[in-house]
Amino acid sequence: MKSKVTVVGAGNVGATCANVLAINEVASEVVLLDVKEGVAEGKAMDIMQTAQLMGFDTVVKGCTNDYAQTADSDVVVITSGVPRKPGMTREDLIGINAGIVKSVSQSILEYSPNAILIIVSNPMDTMACLAMKILGLPSNRIIGMGGALDSSRFTYYLSQALQCNANDVQGMVIGGHGDTTMVPLTSLATYKGVPVSKLLSKEKLQEIAKATMVGGATLTGLLGTSAWMAPGAASAIVVEAILRDQKKLIPCSVALNGEYGLTDIMIGVPVILGKNGVEKIVELELSEEEKEKFAASAVAVRKTNEILKEMNLV
Ligand code: LAC
Repeated sequence: MKSKVTVVGAGNVGATCANVLAINEVASEVVLLDVKEGVAEGKAMDIMQTAQLMGFDTVVKGCTNDYAQTADSDVVVITSGVPRKPGMTREDLIGINAGIVKSVSQSILEYSPNAILIIVSNPMDTMACLAMKILGLPSNRIIGMGGALDSSRFTYYLSQALQCNANDVQGMVIGGHGDTTMVPLTSLATYKGVPVSKLLSKEKLQEIAKATMVGGATLTGLLGTSAWMAPGAASAIVVEAILRDQKKLIPCSVALNGEYGLTDIMIGVPVILGKNGVEKIVELELSEEEKEKFAASAVAVRKTNEILKEMNLV
């Protein structure tokens, strides 16, 4: 079946996402769009020059700010804006990124009125909230991808401690996609079905949770800019769950309407993703400690959301 994905922003994250989508043949067509003349075209051409090597049939095209080329996309990934530099929080980016995400998401909807939007730009939960407020779409069609990324980082750190393959580890991170707002669900993480709490000490698990929460900052320190391999792949995995109607359980930032006792917020919770986008919000039984952390995370996310009002964007 023909399917089309647009990735807005051909920077490191956007280009990596397009590359993973192509290699995994998630869509028949991927359009990369960027504001910088020639960059999306160049990255698309570079990816297409791997088609024979990697054996994929997906067609990747690039364009400079030409939204007509994105028309009738099934899914659109928004990565536009600036990444953080060492020492910055994701929240520090709101001043630049909010205006960009607003205009990009409006332009996208003009040409793809039925698209499902995946928000990647930071601060991710607040950018998803912004898109939700200005676009007036049903809540199943706007998804922030942070939980997919944070959960993958969590299983990486768990696998390092367990000295095993990350594929054998299951774990989820809920809450906001921020250094202090993530809530790694240590109590529910397993290695081949065995609770990790039976295999690792409480101290070690706390250390892993901390490393997960600052996982993005650690990479920003090493790279001088924010990470892109895992953020790009996590975005692609969210697209895949939707286009292939996988009904996959992935933590993502979604609009809550009473679930977890919250309304009027977008924050990371486990959801089932399928052809309709968010098909179900899964309410987990959290421990008292996790409940407290999740509630504190919601307070912090709301505080960042308030800035949108101060900026007169919503
Ligand atoms: C990260 C950025 C992309 O966590 O939010 O790497």
